[in-house]
Amino acid sequence: MNKSKGMFISLEGSEGVGKTTSLKFVQNYIESLGHKVLLTREPGGTPMAEELRNILLSEREEKVEADTELLLMFAARCQHVNQVIKPALEQGTSVICDRFVDASYAYQGGGRGLDFSRIQQLEEWCLDGFKPDLTLLLDMSVEEGIARTKKRGKADRFETEKMAFYEKIRAAYLLRAEQNPQRMAVIDAAPDISQVQTSLKSVLEQTYNQ
Ligand code: TMP
Repeated sequence: MNKSKGMFISLEGSEGVGKTTSLKFVQNYIESLGHKVLLTREPGGTPMAEELRNILLSEREEKVEADTELLLMFAARCQHVNQVIKPALEQGTSVICDRFVDASYAYQGGGRGLDFSRIQQLEEWCLDGFKPDLTLLLDMSVEEGIARTKKRGKADRFETEKMAFYEKIRAAYLLRAEQNPQRMAVIDAAPDISQVQTSLKSVLEQTYNQ
């Protein structure tokens, strides 16, 4: 790792995999190493990108085109990367992002069925080779994940989609991990929290000791 620059870490996974608890754990771990940390999320992370998030996640009568959804995700990402993520990394702050570009491949590619090549074009256009140093993919069976979300509050537009949609999302995430083994680590999110945290810690240790 380039010691003068911050580390860029994204956390990914389908619904109910325990992202929030893991984000906190990753933040605490990196801070314990003495690094400054910025915790942010996608879609969102700037005032304008958060407005786009509200547009994207709100329930509406009008059918949302998959391309519209993809373009808005990238519009928010472009704003977020240039206004927040890159400046923080330049200042030596580590950035932990709750979802990043792999979510577009998983949800708009896998879930909505858009061609990965189309997403790749947008990735090249908006990110121009910029990517996380490390992506932690929390993985568990769709059935278990959905069961866990049911214990939470009201579902948003994405969460009310059917099971098959989530199976496609999970498969696309796992494919991304297979295609990007250097950057992406798959963490089994099914065991209890302490075991998940042990797995997270071991990946983070390797990354920070490189
Ligand atoms: P969250 O619930 O994890 O905050 O994420 C909001 C929703 O946005 C989640 O269901 C996944 C979805 N999403 C996409 O569909 N594509 C993307 O590129 C991103 C970042 C999120």
